[in-house]
Amino acid sequence: MTPKRIFITGANRGLGLALTEQSLQRGDIVLASCRQPEQAPELMALATSTPDRLLLLRLDVSDESSIAAAARQVGEHVEAIDLLINNAGVFSRGESIRSLQPETMLHTMHVNAIAPMIVAQHLLPWLEASPYPCILNISSQFGSIQCKSDGQHYSYASSKAALNMLTRTLAFELSPSGIIVVALHPGWAQTDMGGPNATIPPQESAAGILALAERLTLADSNRFYTWQGHEHPW
Ligand SMILES: NC(=O)c1ccc[n+]([C@@H]2O[C@H](COP(=O)([O-])OP(=O)(O)OC[C@H]3O[C@@H](n4cnc5c(N)ncnc54)[C@H](OP(=O)(O)O)[C@@H]3O)[C@@H](O)[C@H]2O)c1
Repeated sequence: MTPKRIFITGANRGLGLALTEQSLQRGDIVLASCRQPEQAPELMALATSTPDRLLLLRLDVSDESSIAAAARQVGEHVEAIDLLINNAGVFSRGESIRSLQPETMLHTMHVNAIAPMIVAQHLLPWLEASPYPCILNISSQFGSIQCKSDGQHYSYASSKAALNMLTRTLAFELSPSGIIVVALHPGWAQTDMGGPNATIPPQESAAGILALAERLTLADSNRFYTWQGHEHPW
């Protein structure tokens, strides 16, 4: 397996941390980004144990100047990015039509749907420099319009549905450049977001995601997958 250069957002906890740990175990080079690296003890420990293959980057995906600053640092450390995992996300609980807050809806849309596109925009030169580039947008089954079956999660579900549409749009635009773009449902994972009743540990989700990324070709682009590598309805 050829080592990859992987950029991950929201790498300090949950799925992002599991993806970072497993990528390092495979021998990949990881550009692990999070809002406050100095308050990410697990990431700092990984950076100490694998200083040559883990670069810690400060990145608030809701702030374009922060994205631009992180992108500038990329070029100082690697010549290309083979895999961008847009993982950072937010979830707001307990919404109903009587309690909906426009600020919450806008923030959720910004972090979950708009930010992955702006991160991809700023990292595009490094993705174009890779011989086998891939953008993996961590979506959710809650973003599937076809599977919608409840009156909950207004902000989150609509932001992930928007991310799915943005994923398809980007896949069409970048296909001639040879860049694979997919959306992915990571399973119901035991993280702060997924909660303790979730069905799989984040390590299982991360292992599935990295295995899928390994076997994707351009013919598999523009699709919505589960962490197990099955296709998910849009
Ligand atoms: N867990 C599940 O069951 C599940 C199911 C479906 C989809 N997902 C998706 O999987 C992804 C990871 O979720 P998770 O379960 O690992 O959630 P999590 O444990 O709540 O972690 C969320 C991550 O996103 C980061 N983040 C939030 N806002 C950010 C911002 N403005 N800039 C940079 N980073 C930001 C958080 O950083 P801070 O520590 O700085 O807040 C944290 O690292 C998300 O996109 C989520 O929607 C999760």
